[in-house]
Amino acid sequence: MRSIFALLASFLLALPACAQEAEPSVLIAYFTWAENTVIEDEAASLASALAHYDNMGDSRSGVDATSSASLLMPGNTAMMASHIQRLTGGELFSIRVEQPYPSNYDDCLDRAANELDDNARPALSTHVENMEDYDIVFLGMPNWWYSCPMAVLTFVEEYDFSGKTVIPFVAHGTGGISGSVRDMSASLPQDCTVLAPIGVYRPEIPTCGPAVEEWLKTLDLPFALNDSFEVTE
Ligand SMILES: Cc1cc2nc3c(=O)[nH]c(=O)nc-3n(C[C@H](O)[C@H](O)[C@H](O)COP(=O)(O)O)c2cc1C
Repeated sequence: MRSIFALLASFLLALPACAQEAEPSVLIAYFTWAENTVIEDEAASLASALAHYDNMGDSRSGVDATSSASLLMPGNTAMMASHIQRLTGGELFSIRVEQPYPSNYDDCLDRAANELDDNARPALSTHVENMEDYDIVFLGMPNWWYSCPMAVLTFVEEYDFSGKTVIPFVAHGTGGISGSVRDMSASLPQDCTVLAPIGVYRPEIPTCGPAVEEWLKTLDLPFALNDSFEVTE
């Protein structure tokens, strides 16, 4: 009899903890060129990016080709992802293709253009084992040809996003977010909630921490953010 009372008491004591809402699980998945290429000749690859910016009249990116080219780790989208990771405590996941992209800017542009024309779904070499565990998925991508890399669509279509919240973030050149978020969202199911994205222009990537934090604060996330950039930087 006494053991039944003890059992009942421990059940009642545990109730308040059970009644508390569990914190949602957060995944931060991103695609970035630097983690999807193999660099053979770093100087030549950087020069090809610089020549491209020159051709486009994108002088702000040309000033610091080494970081803006986003060829060297960490890539621009990866840097945004690491800020989000620091502030939310989510799990980072790098979307990687089986066949790396060229490290020459123009060659990469050509392959990306062909994939877009073909509505291709490049095969991925990385996979999320437990997607069902995540309620909130931050999804990062560069603007490629006014859209998203087709590998992002391969990723989105691989999993069931029903009932999840997807929060896009985009690294871009002079074109802004363009159609990247729109095209990615078209591959999501109707009952997936897509929140307002942030876009960061490539020369602003090295200093974008506070902007990322301000954006996260506008999203009304169901958990508190970690330490602030305003305090620590
Ligand atoms: C294949 C390719 C296509 C691109 N197309 C565009 C574009 O249409 N508009 C734009 O603003 N930037 C474009 N960019 C620039 C990238 O969006 C920008 O450099 C971004 O910061 C790269 O992010 P990452 O380092 O994460 O790959 C393109 C870059 C590449 C490599």
